[in-house]
Amino acid sequence: MCSIIGYKGQLIVAPLLVDSLKRMEYRGYDSVGIATINNGKILVKKGVGKVLDVNRRLDLSNMGGHAGIGHTRWATHGSITEKNAHPHYCCTDSMAIVHNGIIENHRVLMKELIDLGHVFKSDTDSEVIAHLLERYYAEQKNIKSSMIKTCKRLKGDYAFVAALEDGTICGSRCNEPLMIGSVDTGFFISSDILGFIRYTDKAIFLENRDIVVIDSKTLQIYDPDGNPVNRSLTQVAWELAAIDKGKYSHYTLKEIHEQPFIVEKVGVQNLDKIEEFCNILRNSKTVFLTGSGTSYHCALIAKHILSNFAKIHAETMISSEFQYTLSGIDNTSVLLAFSQSGETADVLQAVNAAKRMGAKVLSIVNVPTSSLARISDSFLTIECGPEIGVAATKSFTAQLSLTYMIVDELCNGYLGFKINRQILVDALQEALAAENEIHGIAEKLRDARDIYVLGRSIHYPIALEGALKIKELSYIHAEGIAAGELKHGPLALIDVNSYVIIVNPNDTTSDNNIASAHEIKARGATIIGISNKPDEVYDIFIKIPFIKCNIIYPIIEVLPLQILAYYLSLVKNVDPDYPRNLAKSVTVR
Ligand code: AGP
Repeated sequence: MCSIIGYKGQLIVAPLLVDSLKRMEYRGYDSVGIATINNGKILVKKGVGKVLDVNRRLDLSNMGGHAGIGHTRWATHGSITEKNAHPHYCCTDSMAIVHNGIIENHRVLMKELIDLGHVFKSDTDSEVIAHLLERYYAEQKNIKSSMIKTCKRLKGDYAFVAALEDGTICGSRCNEPLMIGSVDTGFFISSDILGFIRYTDKAIFLENRDIVVIDSKTLQIYDPDGNPVNRSLTQVAWELAAIDKGKYSHYTLKEIHEQPFIVEKVGVQNLDKIEEFCNILRNSKTVFLTGSGTSYHCALIAKHILSNFAKIHAETMISSEFQYTLSGIDNTSVLLAFSQSGETADVLQAVNAAKRMGAKVLSIVNVPTSSLARISDSFLTIECGPEIGVAATKSFTAQLSLTYMIVDELCNGYLGFKINRQILVDALQEALAAENEIHGIAEKLRDARDIYVLGRSIHYPIALEGALKIKELSYIHAEGIAAGELKHGPLALIDVNSYVIIVNPNDTTSDNNIASAHEIKARGATIIGISNKPDEVYDIFIKIPFIKCNIIYPIIEVLPLQILAYYLSLVKNVDPDYPRNLAKSVTVR
């Protein structure tokens, strides 16, 4: 959601903070701000926009001091304005804070503080942290006890970092990520490894409710009652540092193009862990599959192949709905959670609910140090490298590939994923070669008001995923529909202005889809077919390569949809990497 960074050490802090914020901007990009402590004074600069723009306008990098904090915001409380951008000062400007999450009891706390004479300058829930800290600090001038008292008053999920005019940096977390990066010159404190991986691969992951205080040269971590605790130093992967766009104009396009290489290697280093996963799945009575957004679409395909081919009873539940349908989950169940970030609040809530019911938790994540990985009984990583584009692309095909690999193992190779992997990789390369042609199709769809994406059976989740990509990247209304449901209502929407994409590789669902296409065409809509087999019903045809093992088609057919969504964003003048109102990791419920 929001990104938080802090540093205290020997280096000039402002350029470090700006650089770190650029790397974490995918978490939120409504506004930016930094605070540095220079000669006993806290200086704050903040503004609406992305890091580069605000830095250009306000020269953020050019602030003095060796300690400071920074933030990029994804608005939850209060509109996107300069006054609501972080950092937020307390009344006396002697401390400033940056926060990620939601303080649920902020109204009650605010009222109490206003009654004590505090003056609030923003409409955010976050500002209350600065005033609470100020209140308790005024009592004893002791930052550790002020932090303990402040954290005890906060309800909700949060990670925050405060900067004090004496140069101290401190922070705490509760269900939102916060970690320390240890460098020779000092310490970083960040909501993401990407905030400091350029400088160090040594990280300390704070536990929930830990309180950290960095003063002069020391770092101390305390439990919520103030007892010192030791948290071990973890070495994280340096490869995360490589996050540039290379020859591509956007991260999204780069990530789309990385897919063949990712599918080629996913899971191959993890055969033992895959076996462990398979054993847990085999021994469960029911496997519940969950995720949000794109990751949920992977869960839908996982259900299809687990139940149809591995003959394991599987149910899917979208994570945000999970807590409302817990019956049937017990200690004979397994919950398999999919999440690129491993920090999605809805997914974590579902996992915690399943754990309370006695279920075992497995997860498939991209970030091995994420909260989800750490609370799972066992997890597998998709190892697709950092995904910066807000729209999930390579993480989806990596999740799918790993899922196919697991299920292939469960059904002794019946799926044919393992033996056809190289064919699949070549097919993905071939599908990418249609990029220019798809760009041309995007030009034709520039003024589309609605795009419907249809699929049946295992292709239905891909129709949902294609529609999600089109909405979030181009802001065109798009809907994924199970093709058989058309005549039960959605057909009423179809007219000469409609565009209908049919995900239709030549398999057992194909003839039915062609029949649906004719019904749609009779109502004047333009039909776009995605298939390995042309048909006269398609007004526009996107050819995908033929492969014999057609159960693997979802991994291929999603590519043209991703490319189409990407080019629709360009023709609509939308930044594909940072769609409006969204953030990469949705760490609030
Ligand atoms: C996909 O393009 C989205 N940006 C979004 O739906 C995403 O998949 C969802 O928020 C889940 O994220 P996760 O995989 O990190 O849990």
